[in-house]
Amino acid sequence: MFPPGAGPAADPAGDRHERTIRSFQPRRSRVTHAQREALLRWWPHRGLEIDGGSRIDPAELFGGLPVVLEIGFGMGEATAEMAAADPGTGILAVDVHTPGQGNLLRLAEEAALTNVRVANGDAMILLREMLPPAALAGVRVFFPDPWPKKRHHKRRLIQPEFVELAASRMAPGAVLHCATDWEPYARWMREVLDASPSFVNAAPGGPDGFAPRPQDRPRTRFERQGIAKGHVVRDLRYRRR
Ligand SMILES: C[S@@+](CC[C@H](N)C(=O)[O-])C[C@H]1O[C@@H](n2cnc3c(N)ncnc32)[C@H](O)[C@@H]1O
Repeated sequence: MFPPGAGPAADPAGDRHERTIRSFQPRRSRVTHAQREALLRWWPHRGLEIDGGSRIDPAELFGGLPVVLEIGFGMGEATAEMAAADPGTGILAVDVHTPGQGNLLRLAEEAALTNVRVANGDAMILLREMLPPAALAGVRVFFPDPWPKKRHHKRRLIQPEFVELAASRMAPGAVLHCATDWEPYARWMREVLDASPSFVNAAPGGPDGFAPRPQDRPRTRFERQGIAKGHVVRDLRYRRR
């Protein structure tokens, strides 16, 4: 798809990691001309491969700014908007979806954002193998794939193992912010996070004990689709102890 070495790799961790249960589905959607151009221009400067081998120092990556990890940014509209509104925070945005990576780099270029880096690959590998302890000022997971069928629940990203891994990479006081329009997943997230010894519910004051919708979270594509289907959107904000 790209000249050698120019764009994001198809499977950056490759054989280094056995294929365990993954929370994403490989998608082969088309990369538009504008996305491809943005990838060719910006991937060498703003792209990071999640190869499971190299180490990342988030503070160094953003010249000492506090760093928030966003997992599964999709097309990146919310990422770019939040980065523009908060230039004092570095956003390490991770997804496996090439068109979305191109789109986010395009949006970052248009808005002249210098506080966004795009990581390609599985966030689990990034957290487990590449990030140092207590390095993150926050983690965002907006509208993760809900995996509604029971036999697929094991593929949900929010699981005790993920939550403790994320906690270990977050500084004390850092907030894990999740949002979903899938009510059973919202309840599942609450159960997992309430049971975690590493987190405390930082905003239980919204509807049904969830967080009030934060003003700083823009509507994402998946959120708009969920609302159009009549789904209720839930936010969860849990603070690292
Ligand atoms: C349902 S989409 C939501 C996208 C976006 N946050 C939004 O609200 O429009 C979930 C995204 O998470 C990504 N994803 C799921 N598991 C992931 C993982 N382990 N590492 C990186 N990205 C992941 C998928 O590729 C997909 O783009």
